[in-house]
Amino acid sequence: MIKQRYMAAAFLLALLPFFISGCKNSSVTSYYEKGALATASPIATNIGEQVFAKGGNAFDVAVAVGFALAVVHPEAGNIGGGGFAVIRDASTKEIKALDFREKAPLASSEKMYLDSMGNLIENMSTVGANACGVPGTLAGLYELWQEHGSLKWPELVNYAVLLADSGFIVNAYQAESFAKYKDRLSVFDESSRLFFPGNENWQKGDTFVNRELGWTLAQIQKDGLVSFYTGDIADSIVATVKRYGGLISHEDLASYQIKWRKPVSFRFDSLQIYSMPPPSSGGLIMGQILKLVEAYDFSKYDPASIEYIHLFCESARLAFADRSEYLGDPDFYNIPFDILDENYISKRRELINLNTTNSSLEILPGIMPTYESGQTTHYSVVDAQGNMVAVTYTLNSSYGSKLAVSGCGFLLNNEMDDFALAPGVPNLYGLVGGEANKIEPAKRMLSSMSPTIVLKNDKPLFILGSPGGSQIITAVTQVIVSLSRFRLPLERALAQPRFHHQWLPDNILLEEKSFDINVKQGLLKLGHVIKETDMIGEIHAVYIDGAGLMTAVADSRGPGHAGGQ
Ligand code: DON
Repeated sequence: MIKQRYMAAAFLLALLPFFISGCKNSSVTSYYEKGALATASPIATNIGEQVFAKGGNAFDVAVAVGFALAVVHPEAGNIGGGGFAVIRDASTKEIKALDFREKAPLASSEKMYLDSMGNLIENMSTVGANACGVPGTLAGLYELWQEHGSLKWPELVNYAVLLADSGFIVNAYQAESFAKYKDRLSVFDESSRLFFPGNENWQKGDTFVNRELGWTLAQIQKDGLVSFYTGDIADSIVATVKRYGGLISHEDLASYQIKWRKPVSFRFDSLQIYSMPPPSSGGLIMGQILKLVEAYDFSKYDPASIEYIHLFCESARLAFADRSEYLGDPDFYNIPFDILDENYISKRRELINLNTTNSSLEILPGIMPTYESGQTTHYSVVDAQGNMVAVTYTLNSSYGSKLAVSGCGFLLNNEMDDFALAPGVPNLYGLVGGEANKIEPAKRMLSSMSPTIVLKNDKPLFILGSPGGSQIITAVTQVIVSLSRFRLPLERALAQPRFHHQWLPDNILLEEKSFDINVKQGLLKLGHVIKETDMIGEIHAVYIDGAGLMTAVADSRGPGHAGGQ
């Protein structure tokens, strides 16, 4: 007991500099020899550094960071959601994709979110128990550890147990986030008690303690997957979901399985790119965009120029149109042809006119989405051996379904909204879909998450990923182009203003206050509709130079932090 207390105190002392500094230097570039990482939280990054200091490899770090983010970044870090990892195993040089995406409950059905008239029932796929897919995060982190970890499981989970039990200091970002979502979280007693037990208005500097999550993590620390998928935690998940009319059953939890998949791989310029295959659309859509733009000599333009934005967006528009038609969970739906085939891409390229755009609405009517800003989180880890781990995981929108599991201190996802709920009906991110992504029992919903590993001459070059729903794909793709074609260093590549097009809705989204008025006017003249948004993506990346020195960068758009050893 005394030893435990001592360990907790030592641990908190180690984190003290971050509590005092207010976590401001999120975009500082650093160089590391032994290992580097970038995450959405200075506390999680510091835990990663501690794991490296203990001799842990990139997989150990990824596991400890995954659990730490579930505590300190509750809007997206999770054990009640799911995600993907693209990894490089240095010992075999193999690159693999781990799918720990949520699955539709066995009792779900194609029209479950439609009323008797066939209309979408408001909020049903986004709020509360009906919105939840069967969580996969714990199974994913456990698999990463079991296959590739070098330290002991309890040791890696312990950081998060201590953080949950002792609390962490709320920073300005988290205080604002709690305030923004207080009303929506308070709809459910379980979440209200958890996040606002005394009806708090959280301030920067307050300590947020989550003993229920501490208990849950302690079970996970003791028995790995057992309690969560078949034991006490499973009982609580099923009871909570049942109370609110949802579908997740004991059978759903007990039968949940991760899947190793072959990553999407293709070349762009001299780079070898490996990203997430279906059930994420990330790798294939990124591949289409890069292959479409690759044929043009656009490096003479500025990365924020009319010419490049137009070319990129016309390419993205074509790729996202394919997304809506052809992509879904490969265990249920076969993509009918190779959408990265060179001949197919050449044909599609003929549809790009460098001097004008036409309307996506001429092809298929779209409906403007009611956009709720989402939160996913991505972290990138690399070690000196050349192990690389890119993890993107999520509850879908911020704080997921807003429903916390009774007595367990964690939120459930609202990932079911990523299915095509009805043909042509847009999801939270304005994405439409059909047959390929329709709801079926035990199927995985189509994602845009794009954890990505890039090699050059078979050697690790960089690793990256982002939150942002559909904007993940364009953000990650733009950073790859900035590094390769515009030859920008990593920090500048991340700092470039970003833009987005996803076919429907038919507009270019620009980061606000980031583009010259002449650029906006030029795009309007080409026929584009322009909308603005506060930010597109939040990339966390690590770059490895020829000497093996690692640069880690956390996107200055978010609260993240880069670090290493
Ligand atoms: O899997 C997907 O594509 C979405 N559920 C991701 C959501 C997301 O990135 C929200 N983040 N800002």
